[in-house]
Amino acid sequence: MKIKNICCLGAGYVGGPTMSVIALKCPEIKVTVVDLNEARIAAWNEENLDKLPVYEPGLAEVVHEARGRNLFFSTEVESAIDAADMIFIAVNTPTKTYGEGKGMAADLKFVELCARQIARIAKNDKIIVEKSTLPVRTAETLQTILDRTGNGVKFEVLSNPEFLAEGTAINDLFNADRVLIGGKQTESGQKAIQSLVDIYAHWLSPKQILTTNVWSSELSKLTANAFLAQRISSINALSALCEVTEADVDEVANAIGTDSRIGPKFLKASVGFGGSCFQKDILNLVYLCRYFNLPEVANYWEQVIILNDYQKYRFAKNIISSLFNTVSEKKITFLGWAFKKDTNDTRESAAIYVAEHLIEDGAEIHVYDPKVSEAKIIADMCYLWELNGLTEQKIASKMKQIFVYQSPIEALDQAHAIAVLTEWDEFKTYDWNAIYINMYKPAFVFDGRNILDAGKLNAIGFEVKGIGKG
Ligand code: NAI
Repeated sequence: MKIKNICCLGAGYVGGPTMSVIALKCPEIKVTVVDLNEARIAAWNEENLDKLPVYEPGLAEVVHEARGRNLFFSTEVESAIDAADMIFIAVNTPTKTYGEGKGMAADLKFVELCARQIARIAKNDKIIVEKSTLPVRTAETLQTILDRTGNGVKFEVLSNPEFLAEGTAINDLFNADRVLIGGKQTESGQKAIQSLVDIYAHWLSPKQILTTNVWSSELSKLTANAFLAQRISSINALSALCEVTEADVDEVANAIGTDSRIGPKFLKASVGFGGSCFQKDILNLVYLCRYFNLPEVANYWEQVIILNDYQKYRFAKNIISSLFNTVSEKKITFLGWAFKKDTNDTRESAAIYVAEHLIEDGAEIHVYDPKVSEAKIIADMCYLWELNGLTEQKIASKMKQIFVYQSPIEALDQAHAIAVLTEWDEFKTYDWNAIYINMYKPAFVFDGRNILDAGKLNAIGFEVKGIGKG
């Protein structure tokens, strides 16, 4: 079946960029991205491309070219579903915050709502594509809902997990290592797979497009994130050992990374991983393993999260002990709040948890991030405190310990310590001599990303503490 009309439910970090690229590369297909969030859709339709709701290098150019031509952003969910031959579900699948599986399982209520809505509206056969990350065997649930609540039309459910990384999303989509498409082994299943293969074949070669059964595809996404996060936790675990033995974690990473069986990527020690996916997907994997009565497997993967929490805590504790065991009323400047560079996404950012530890100890946190707004930073902290059950009064009082700046100069002025939380390139270009002069002494720098030139900073007079540096 040749696809002429695509609808995507969810205009977030995945739906927005992936559909923009599909529209750009397939000008003969009409792509409509819909969302319930009106403000988000309005932002996607902004004339001023700096105001798009997602910041990704190269995204504005893609949107500029395709939007209004064959790419549309809309809140008219029903008409978009009705018109589409193929519907991508790219809605959020956060960790459950209530009930059975709380804190572990993926909350599939948004996905289920999508399936019910599609079933209600569809008047002709449609291919449904799982783009959201879902627990293995979700396609079975979707198929049941679609078939039992629909109007007698046929639905083929495919799994097509997204492997893009925020910060490099457009490049990842243009030059994907691979796309993965899982479908049923039936004739109609294979035809549906082929329809989606044909879309990606507009710009990817056949060897970049893998096809599997649905369950392998669903499980591969959780597995990929678990393996990636595991590498970070592995090198971070070693960073703690480096710090007490005078080994240098970057040297160790380089030494092991040159072994072709290990490889050099994803071996950068840091304050800990963040982002909306790694933690959520591993928790989901752990939950699934427990559900299928595999406690040893569950415990193995859970350790990746435990280690990551430890790393964030260790970083905060190191700041407190270095500052003579008290940070009370001291100005600690955070360079960076986003969970990684080149994105404005802050979900599960290490900065949030480090700030929480330090605020608890009385510190004043002064934040500068080139792409994250004050409102978002405040919302991140409020969300965490609410989740931890703090009263409104207590939250209001803690809020007085957090300050956000539009420029780094003000944020850094008269600081007792600087903590690098995000590896933004611009931090390397600052006038560190001038920063030093305007700081309290000893002037501490805690480089949670090991991006600054420690030798140079030491020569200026800073006390530099990197991750995994003896
Ligand atoms: P997001 O939260 O940025 O976007 C999801 C959007 O779906 C929201 O704007 C929400 O309003 C909308 N939505 C919810 N229910 C809806 C409905 N019934 N109809 C229409 N819109 C609805 O989430 P994000 O980051 O885009 O993630 C989406 C999925 O993709 C998740 O399952 C995530 O695990 C997965 N994923 C995310 C990656 C990332 O880097 N952010 C990478 C790969 C996969």
